[in-house]
Amino acid sequence: MPIGVPHHDSCGHRYNAGDYQCKLLDGVWAVGPARAGRSTPVAATVMTVSRTQIVLLSVCPVSWHSGVGQPRNVVTNASLDHQQRINRHFDASAQHWKNVYDRRTLEGVIYQSRRSLALQWIQDLALPRDSRVLEVGCGAGLVAIDLARHNYSVNCIDASKEMVALAVKEARDAGISGQLAIEVGDVHTLVFGSGAFDLVIALGVVPFLHAPERALAEMARVSRRGSWILFSFDNRFRLNRLLDPRFAPFPGRERLKRVLTDIGAKLPAEFSANLFSYKAIKTMLERAGLHVERRATIGFGPFTLLGERLFADPLAIRLHTRLQRQADLGVPVLRSVGTQYLVLARKS
Ligand SMILES: C[S@@+](CC[C@H](N)C(=O)[O-])C[C@H]1O[C@@H](n2cnc3c(N)ncnc32)[C@H](O)[C@@H]1O
Repeated sequence: MPIGVPHHDSCGHRYNAGDYQCKLLDGVWAVGPARAGRSTPVAATVMTVSRTQIVLLSVCPVSWHSGVGQPRNVVTNASLDHQQRINRHFDASAQHWKNVYDRRTLEGVIYQSRRSLALQWIQDLALPRDSRVLEVGCGAGLVAIDLARHNYSVNCIDASKEMVALAVKEARDAGISGQLAIEVGDVHTLVFGSGAFDLVIALGVVPFLHAPERALAEMARVSRRGSWILFSFDNRFRLNRLLDPRFAPFPGRERLKRVLTDIGAKLPAEFSANLFSYKAIKTMLERAGLHVERRATIGFGPFTLLGERLFADPLAIRLHTRLQRQADLGVPVLRSVGTQYLVLARKS
């Protein structure tokens, strides 16, 4: 079915006029570019598991077999559900993503350091005035507002409607709403043209994505050759995780987890953020035609034992500050076991 009117779906995916969407199965849609005026038959390969269950192995419009166009997105129930859960979470916690930047908690201190370092690296790029910047997952819009004040031409998107409403209000309160465009959107399917931006930023977004590799490829697509992508990801090999036996792999870990849950220890969160090794991220970047120019590990803690926090904020902040100083000096091991990484990559 070709799409007549461009629109976003409930999870922020944008459909352009001339795209088609095609229901393959209940809850499984193929979405992609099609030649105007033609219907696009779809070939789906399915494996029957039982009378009530099938597994979708691949879907592909017949025109892609003949080399016309490329699949842009296949939206499955799982990715829709995931994004809707993420959106509900951030809709409900929007204000937190403004307040945390004023708080003297461990979390606040780590996010404040991330923002300062990101702004420092952007300043080091010495981009000309009017450079085009896109921030994806802009949250309360604080970084975007700062960049708009520096006379960059800024677009922001966020998948959460409440976040967008908050960012719009913050921009208005800062008196610069005319200098930045803030919209609901999904980083997996950006609506901007290829090569449109000089810098794309995604702070704290990658951990929540159902298809991070696709999102990085989209960010690379909208970047012009030689331009920059600045993003953070959550480190799989973070020190606090390596030290807590709840996370560290050891024989009997699963049994211990079951015992802990049985006696009422904390249940896993509604969703858990994706953790990556630096190596895995580097591979994804290379596949998207990006190479790393700068990287730094940021944040130590909160330290836990079997899920319980070991230190109150003042002590946790002192410990974080001391370890961060060592990491910044390049001390082996510590320089790669922070909670997150900030990465500056360049499009070749
Ligand atoms: C942890 S918050 C970080 C907000 C802000 N970048 C910051 O550093 O304060 C993650 C943000 O990513 C947004 N987000 C999650 N999934 C997204 C997606 N698929 N596309 C765009 N934004 C998304 C969330 O709504 C949320 O605002």
